[in-house]
Amino acid sequence: MTNQDTEGRMRVTSLGAALGAEISGIDLRESLSRGRADEILEAWRTHLVLVFRDQALSTEDQRRFAANFGTLHERRRGGTSFAKDKYGLYEGDPTIREDPNLMLVSNVRVDGKPIGAVADGDMWFHIDSGYSERPYRYTVLHAIKLPSSGGDTLFANMYKAYETLPEELKAKIAGRKALHIHEYKRTAKVDLSKDFSTSPHYFHPVVATHPETRRKSLFVDRLMTARIEGLEAQESEDVLARLFDHAERPEMIYAHKWRPGDVVMWDNRCVTHGRTDFPRQEERILRRCTIEGDPIQP
Ligand code: OGA
Ligand code: MN
Repeated sequence: MTNQDTEGRMRVTSLGAALGAEISGIDLRESLSRGRADEILEAWRTHLVLVFRDQALSTEDQRRFAANFGTLHERRRGGTSFAKDKYGLYEGDPTIREDPNLMLVSNVRVDGKPIGAVADGDMWFHIDSGYSERPYRYTVLHAIKLPSSGGDTLFANMYKAYETLPEELKAKIAGRKALHIHEYKRTAKVDLSKDFSTSPHYFHPVVATHPETRRKSLFVDRLMTARIEGLEAQESEDVLARLFDHAERPEMIYAHKWRPGDVVMWDNRCVTHGRTDFPRQEERILRRCTIEGDPIQP
């Protein structure tokens, strides 16, 4: 039997000229055949961000689904104090708080402390773990509870950003590396005048080649890319500012308006993402897992 006999037909609908596609006809709670997982990967390579609507994944479902695409990242630190009883989010699993494969993205507070990461407000464009030697290949985010407005996630097509750069700017960054630093902020430039040696940091090629598509993308982001190696400080500043502005132009962007039950997943090697502001007093809860990555290739 073919996949279609057993799994039904999967539909791929583009979400606009920049990037992104909605996939329908799949219940992500079911285990996928290898053929179906490959079909999804194929769509992922073409559209960079995939959206599945109306899913209801348990923690185990999310883990199983994501594991079709590589090795799940394990966090070293446990989570912060999760509100498992208050929200019933974890199917009564008291160990979820320490679950190393899953992370909450949430502003919900218990005893004054957020139960998840990147809690409040807007967030500049970034690459998940772009400051590490092996940035995550993929991020898989599942929406559980959302504010009445805002909190959209914006995705930028970094292939397109590279391809549409002025030649003179391409020449300035050709063959160079840039320093990425994680300072645990959401909307502030890295401060290079301070000692960052204890903050996670790494140099990556400014222009990356995707290991599967072999396409070139711009591998920098406004939140964490601090310095282009080999350029004078001021020139590095100027070039980075131009790269960020270019990569965040509307024609590079798909803006995702979340609905509860959405699963949105992106390829961190060719996509950056940011978030719009939302009311601080309204609760927002998403559950995230990530797939281990590899060194970024020039
Ligand atoms: C993330 C992230 C954006 C959002 O989970 O890595 O950046 O919209 N989330 O919460
Ligand atoms: Mn992120």
